Amino acid sequence: MDRPVSRLCCIGCGRDYPLEEIRYECDACANLLEVVHDLELLKTVRDGPGWRHLFDERLGVRSGIHRSGVWRYHELVLPDLPAAGVVSKPEGNTTLYRAARLEEESGTAEVHIKHEGENPTLSFKDRGMSAGVSFARHLGVGMVACASTGDTSAAMAAYAAQVDGMRGVVVLPKGQISMEQLAQPIASGCLTVALPADFDTCIRLLREVCRRRPLYLLNSVNPVRIEGQKSIAYEIVQQLGWDPPDWIVVPVGNAGNISAIGKGLFDLRALGLIDRVPHLLGAQPEVAAPLARAHREGYKERVRVKAADTVATAIRIGDPVSYDKAVGTVRRSGGAFIAASEQEIMDAKALVDATGVYVCPNSATAVAGFLKARQQGTIGASDKVVIVATAHGCKFSQATIDYHEGRLPGVRPRRANRVIELRVDGAALERLLASDDGSRKDKP
Ligand SMILES: Cc1ncc(COP(=O)(O)O)c(C=O)c1O
Ligand SMILES: [Zn+2]
Repeated sequence: MDRPVSRLCCIGCGRDYPLEEIRYECDACANLLEVVHDLELLKTVRDGPGWRHLFDERLGVRSGIHRSGVWRYHELVLPDLPAAGVVSKPEGNTTLYRAARLEEESGTAEVHIKHEGENPTLSFKDRGMSAGVSFARHLGVGMVACASTGDTSAAMAAYAAQVDGMRGVVVLPKGQISMEQLAQPIASGCLTVALPADFDTCIRLLREVCRRRPLYLLNSVNPVRIEGQKSIAYEIVQQLGWDPPDWIVVPVGNAGNISAIGKGLFDLRALGLIDRVPHLLGAQPEVAAPLARAHREGYKERVRVKAADTVATAIRIGDPVSYDKAVGTVRRSGGAFIAASEQEIMDAKALVDATGVYVCPNSATAVAGFLKARQQGTIGASDKVVIVATAHGCKFSQATIDYHEGRLPGVRPRRANRVIELRVDGAALERLLASDDGSRKDKP
């Protein structure tokens, strides 16, 4: 196509900017920007069935960028970016697990878990970072930066490490991310900075510095990242044979991911790949739930809270950066936001983990949110539901062990599976085996 397909557009006043301009907010009204593709032009390239056929044909290719679960949809992600400029590992192509145990527990017709922890750095952030770092390279940027609750920095570091001459800088809230997450940017060679502050403060500080220094910001305020992120939704509907679920449930922190998933779905509908958009349910921990509160209060005004400690450390955010985008897209989908307690989160995690699908506490917040929404009747018994697990349990080992050992403050481990220490004694092991009834019972 000879003219650009995409531009940046302010979500507040609608002002346009060229895609290649490095900016994260509108000059006129300071709102966030989004990438807008010329859907009318894309409709002239193919109709809905034509696009579906193209993407189905690319399934299973063995080389090139279409192997990636982001770049399979290249024409709808960043159509103006040449294929040669793509930085990919590849990412995506994560499993959609049928969650029979959750169907039984909740009495719901069809429940799936989309396990984004199966990405290269073990979280969904790889999708957005593949887009963000590709675009940074395309722009000739030398230094990329992000503030992070852990997973963003891991992904940015690993993608920046793939580009010759690109330096990554990460700013982290000291002591508030898991050891495994901290190890990732260090291992990938990033400049790794810890501040004695919460995430909300880290991002505010970094955004200020980015105004003065030539740093390319790769937090989810960066609209290009959102374009990569939305491929989660594309994969979900493609894996379901282009028949969308009734609900998609997503754990929410800064709210970039749920905004991306919503944007992707509305674009798919506009292009005729799907005929309806699922309702979106955003789940937050009770101690960091500004959007769930806003939902309860009818979105009358913007809610900011001081986020307290939670097992779901990656979504310990009181002032979500993409608040307006998320509220807009969730309301447009006929969806909701919901909050779950620490007890509910960790019990939900143990329930899913025990099926052999190992998820993190942030992902478990979505599972707990789903169970609650089912109980409240927001989600119905005959609904088809997809829960997005955003990171792998292996990134949050301490929380898992602390739960099973009964060491999490305020949480009773109803599904505890404790380590049993024995003497080096075969007979003792045999006695233990004889007394084991083969099942782990839930405690009331
Ligand atoms: C594992 C995990 N889940 C959920 C989220 C929340 O995503 P978002 O900030 O886009 O709402 C994050 C973000 O840091 C995360 O790392
Ligand atoms: Zn504006």
